[in-house]
Amino acid sequence: MNSNLFDSFQLGSNNLDNRVVMAPMTRLRADGTIPTQLMAEYYAQRATAGLIITECTMISPLSQGYMNVPGIYNEEQIQGWKLVTNAVHAQGGKIFLQIWHSGRVAHSALLNGEKPVAPSAIAATGQLHTPIGKVEIETPHALETSEISEIIAQFRQATVNAKQAGFDGVELHGAFGYLIDQFLQDGSNQRQDKYGGSIENRARFLLEVVEAVTQVWRGDCIGIKLSPSNTFYGMVDSDPQATFSYVIKALNNFNLAYIHLMEANEVDLKTRQVIDPVLPIFRPLYQGNIITNGGYNKETGNSAIASGNAELVSYGRPYLANPDLVKRFVANAPLNEPDPRTFYGRGDTENAKVGYTDYSFL
Ligand SMILES: Cc1cc2nc3c(=O)[nH]c(=O)nc-3n(C[C@H](O)[C@H](O)[C@H](O)COP(=O)(O)O)c2cc1C
Repeated sequence: MNSNLFDSFQLGSNNLDNRVVMAPMTRLRADGTIPTQLMAEYYAQRATAGLIITECTMISPLSQGYMNVPGIYNEEQIQGWKLVTNAVHAQGGKIFLQIWHSGRVAHSALLNGEKPVAPSAIAATGQLHTPIGKVEIETPHALETSEISEIIAQFRQATVNAKQAGFDGVELHGAFGYLIDQFLQDGSNQRQDKYGGSIENRARFLLEVVEAVTQVWRGDCIGIKLSPSNTFYGMVDSDPQATFSYVIKALNNFNLAYIHLMEANEVDLKTRQVIDPVLPIFRPLYQGNIITNGGYNKETGNSAIASGNAELVSYGRPYLANPDLVKRFVANAPLNEPDPRTFYGRGDTENAKVGYTDYSFL
């Protein structure tokens, strides 16, 4: 019989009750940069997922792209995250922390007056909310070669801290136009040193980060999210199939828990010609586990698993609105609709619960 979403799965050293994964979602409800009791409640409500991947989390003060995103670089943040991991584990769930550097998707108003950093001084397209209001994204400072190793060390330390905070693993945010992705794609990386130019050079930063984090935690507790067809924040590559094929093949060497691979969304498909579908192109190149993501429902998720193209399926918006998504899938019950007006909060305020912990259970 074919496998389906409700079969258990051995993901490296973590045994998952099912193959339904909660995709990482930024909700901007931290108290400054500190995870809160309310965040613990939100994640614990969703603990029947086979695996929860948290919202993206800053590895350093300079990795910040939004207000009220949590961090994992100081003791208070580690203590805050312990509320979350304890609450999820008490419900029998598993949880990975998504660690993140926003790179050029930032503004000095978020960075204590310092300029955002990136592989090259090429601005992302778009606007950001900052303490001084909504602003155009700034042109970043191109990292010196010597500054790059500091950021790699921050990813390593964030992984150590995540382990200390009680997580079951970490996911590197290599997708969606943030720093790792900025190094990878030639629209944002026009460096002349060993981190730019050839695909091998552009992939060097990502692979050095993977190498660093797998030195402090077993590879099978580390995942990475990639988005070969993403156009968000002005991302573009002259040959995404070649670029991502190189990276995905190289990742075979690390015995990772998984690659989390995003499909194109409606905006990507409208913006320009992108790889679509992503999964069948890259599956044959990777021997480890793949979590597929993007626009799935129960039926298409089951088909992805049955086809052998993916081991696990992640759900973003359906999980945001349905804390008991697994139960609803099993029962073929109707799903709550997500409300985009409350996707992003403004910290730990009075109304932080609205559209966060108040979606109904069956
Ligand atoms: C409110 C919201 C916040 C998101 N934040 C993140 C994030 O922090 N990290 C990330 O990798 N993806 C983020 N995503 C993307 C989701 O993980 C997922 O890739 C996307 O929603 C597509 O899956 P879906 O069609 O099941 O919603 C976010 C999506 C939403 C809706």
